[in-house]
Amino acid sequence: MAGSSQFSGPHTLGKVRPQPSQNEALLFEKSSPGKRAYKMPPLDVPAVDASALLGAARRDKSAELPELSEIELIRHFTRLSTWNYAIDLGMYPLGSCTMKYNPRVNEFVARIEGLAEAHPYRPDALAQGILEVFDLLQRCLLEITGMDAITLQPAAGAHGEFTGILLTRAWHESQGNPRKKVLIPDSAHGTNPATAAFSGYTVENLKSNADGGIDLEALARQVNEETAALMLTNPSTLGVFEHQIHKIADILHAKGALLYMDGANMNALVGKVRPGDFGVDVMHLNLHKTFSTPHGGGGPGSGPVACKKFLEPFLPIPVLVRNGTQEKDCPDAGDWEDTNAEPTADGCPPLFRAPLLKPDGERVGDMEPLPLHPQNGELHWEYNRPHSIGRVRAFYGNTGMFIRALAYILANGPDGLRQTTEDAVLNANYIRKKIEDLYELPYKTASMHEVVFSDKRQAVHGVKTGDIAKRLIDYGFHPYTVSFPLIVHGALMIEPTESESREELDLFIDAMRSIAREAEEIPELVKTAPHSTRVSRLDEVQAARKPILRWKPQL
Ligand SMILES: Cc1ncc(COP(=O)(O)O)c(C=O)c1O
Repeated sequence: MAGSSQFSGPHTLGKVRPQPSQNEALLFEKSSPGKRAYKMPPLDVPAVDASALLGAARRDKSAELPELSEIELIRHFTRLSTWNYAIDLGMYPLGSCTMKYNPRVNEFVARIEGLAEAHPYRPDALAQGILEVFDLLQRCLLEITGMDAITLQPAAGAHGEFTGILLTRAWHESQGNPRKKVLIPDSAHGTNPATAAFSGYTVENLKSNADGGIDLEALARQVNEETAALMLTNPSTLGVFEHQIHKIADILHAKGALLYMDGANMNALVGKVRPGDFGVDVMHLNLHKTFSTPHGGGGPGSGPVACKKFLEPFLPIPVLVRNGTQEKDCPDAGDWEDTNAEPTADGCPPLFRAPLLKPDGERVGDMEPLPLHPQNGELHWEYNRPHSIGRVRAFYGNTGMFIRALAYILANGPDGLRQTTEDAVLNANYIRKKIEDLYELPYKTASMHEVVFSDKRQAVHGVKTGDIAKRLIDYGFHPYTVSFPLIVHGALMIEPTESESREELDLFIDAMRSIAREAEEIPELVKTAPHSTRVSRLDEVQAARKPILRWKPQL
């Protein structure tokens, strides 16, 4: 029984037991001259003189690459893969990261040849299939967010924030003053202040109230004509829904400032409420969180930005546009239509470039005639947008992520997405209820998709949040997020997502309860965890400050 092993402590590790796995040297260390993982056929083309072809570029010494047989290589990587932890192995409650399961159907669809191999330089007329995918995803995301216009270009959440704040800045500039500051609550994700500063704004901190929300009176005192926007994460990193958000929007709009919503936590809202309906002017989504596309170590992600109509002229180029149809199905002109003008030869009203709009709908400036497009219902990329902030990424964004996100949205449908949201919130609250007698809950406000405890009760025994997180590894779980958000001292930020079954949640709860007991009875066990891993506690400071990232030959 695993519970009796030397590292498990007095309580039973129900989920895991240690399993021997072979030590693994680097491929370079295993290399032995002459071994090969491939066999080339005899040369059947005339040999060439590399020196004559490459001149000085020809290397005079062979590259120092490891030499191994095929099976040695395969075993090496297979063994390494078993040392890792993944959502496909078990629960990954990393708060703020929404580490949900990526359904295999997404991967299947993303690998369909015609989609996977669509070349970004393919002419629009020959790329209608993939453009329809982009268009459908855009329309789904607009429906989900309640916004008017969208760009899929940004490659991650932080990149979406940057794009959204650039839109905000461009709009303020069009009103004659870019303004100076962006307000950011102290519960914000670290990328928010970085984004504002990067976009040329001064960051002004907003203190959260006792419920973890925004103090409206303090906000009203802080907003003035120098405020460009408030960046608000909703639900916040405390897992708390900002229920006064419509009033926050009113306070900002009264002073001509905009409301930016960090929508990375939309997993708690999809299908229930829409930011566009509660006053948000611009927001980003993290497809790699909410819409189940994989999180990679640094990418590729996807952070689409959705905005209200008055920000649309500033969207990055190119913008996806559908031409009208031959059956006089005129393009949906909306605000672009000049109702006083004569119809064009095809019977449709002439189109004009959107005039700039204020949030209250008032027009600024004149309409500009738009070049007419073939009226054939096809999609094309439009580049001629004089108010655009320009490109924020090469081509159109991370296409593979779009296909996966769309597959996820369509496979779930509206009811499925709503259920997903409800299950994510239910799971977080189930954990909260089952361990709140043992772990300190600094904010008692109702939890949404994640719950944030503090290590206050364990710290009296010298056990910190980082120790508890490491001990979770011994119980077979990926750690939760440690020490974030910063307004909670010693934070344990737990986000189970909807992917987890009741059984898996119960195992996690057992583990957390067991660790709380260990912290009291044998704190040393927790403070020196993990005990079951190949390497024990790493020197994280040293690893961050002096990383050794590549093998170097011993001289
Ligand atoms: C609330 C919030 N905002 C922004 C981000 C940044 O997203 P990304 O890591 O894709 O840049 C995250 C990441 O998880 C987040 O949780």
